[in-house]
Amino acid sequence: MSSQKVAIVTGASQGIGEALVRAYRERDYNVVATSRSIGPSSDDRVHTVAGDIAQAETAERVVREALQHFGRIDTLVNNAGVFTAKPFIDFTQADYDLNFGVNVAGFFHITQRAARAMLKQGSGHIVSITTSLVDQPVASVPAALASLTKGGLNAVTKGLAIEFATSGVRVNAVSPGIIKTPMHPPETHEFLSALHPVGHMGDIRDIVDAVIYLEGATFVTGEILHVDGGQNAGRW
Ligand SMILES: NC(=O)c1ccc[n+]([C@@H]2O[C@H](COP(=O)([O-])OP(=O)(O)OC[C@H]3O[C@@H](n4cnc5c(N)ncnc54)[C@H](OP(=O)(O)O)[C@@H]3O)[C@@H](O)[C@H]2O)c1
Repeated sequence: MSSQKVAIVTGASQGIGEALVRAYRERDYNVVATSRSIGPSSDDRVHTVAGDIAQAETAERVVREALQHFGRIDTLVNNAGVFTAKPFIDFTQADYDLNFGVNVAGFFHITQRAARAMLKQGSGHIVSITTSLVDQPVASVPAALASLTKGGLNAVTKGLAIEFATSGVRVNAVSPGIIKTPMHPPETHEFLSALHPVGHMGDIRDIVDAVIYLEGATFVTGEILHVDGGQNAGRW
């Protein structure tokens, strides 16, 4: 088995995921980067797989190709995610299918397959990107589907941390506030900044730093690390 560490990053074509690919490469990992639109990489230590992460077939391909190309899986970052804010009674079946597809099925299929490889290996780290709206709902941003889906990810992070605790596989989550990524057009930034006790949005670097901290934090498992400008601390 190769000794070069390998990270899989989902939702890797832009935003936080794209930055995570760079961060793991800077730390000398081989990386498997996946999203629907991702193209081939010019870096031969980044293998890309294009596909819809909601589909089990994509998860199967990503994990199979990670093992074929690089021989092992050390880290899975479940970063692909969607967010639909609207009043609860206005959600459509399409909203429901999209949010449960990407956020929940997109976690389940690939985590199950990556965990099999990690458990066999006796080591690994699974980290998911959730949202602090789960713990601190905001009246002006109604987002029940985020609560249902990302809240489920927070819960399963703790569940799997316990299930895998003696196996060498750690399971954590990073819970962001609102981060300056392509998800938010610049004209929304002033409104979104005010939704944080510190008075400003977060940067992609803040989330990357948290994931990288967890990567090296060998005594930390089952942690929901809030990186949210104080949102989780209370009311403001
Ligand atoms: N930005 C924020 O304020 C914020 C706050 C809290 C939590 N988060 C979470 O952080 C994560 C990253 O957010 P971001 O702001 O970087 O998002 P983003 O800029 O919208 O990027 C989302 C990524 O997910 C991929 N993706 C979307 N649907 C997919 C699907 N069906 N199958 C495979 N890949 C898919 C996209 O690539 P393709 O289009 O190529 O598929 C893209 O690479 C998400 O889980 C998000 O919920 C973000």
